[in-house]
Amino acid sequence: MSGAGAGARGAVLVTGGAGFIGSHVVAALLARGERVAVVDDLSSGKAANLPEGVRLLVGDLADPAVAAAAVAGCDRVVHCAARPSVTLSVADAPL
Ligand SMILES: NC(=O)c1ccc[n+]([C@@H]2O[C@H](COP(=O)([O-])OP(=O)(O)OC[C@H]3O[C@@H](n4cnc5c(N)ncnc54)[C@H](O)[C@@H]3O)[C@@H](O)[C@H]2O)c1
Repeated sequence: MSGAGAGARGAVLVTGGAGFIGSHVVAALLARGERVAVVDDLSSGKAANLPEGVRLLVGDLADPAVAAAAVAGCDRVVHCAARPSVTLSVADAPL
């Protein structure tokens, strides 16, 4: 990708973009003029954390179909989706 102008690039996918860290990453990317897409299952994040116009795919990234749909049109990923509570992760660990 070196040498490609911002206009030649695809969008940046921010996983967990409706969460605390992810929504700040989204804002920083938009401020740089990037196009941004978000995938989030809204298990702890909120759609209201996102500015208008950001493409939000609501779904669980553990589902391969969701992951494939999320990366469409994107050429970079910032992975912020997480279940930050260690207690919850241990109590319900499907993967
Ligand atoms: N908040 C902090 O101060 C801080 C500091 C350092 C590191 N981190 C790390 O940053 C990451 C994000 O933390 P956060 O505070 O933003 O948490 P958060 O709960 O606010 O955000 C996580 C987002 O991921 C989404 N998500 C969870 N599981 C998902 C799934 N299976 N598919 C799709 N979306 C899913 C949630 O809905 C939420 O919007 C974590 O790994 C955390 O450990 C956070």
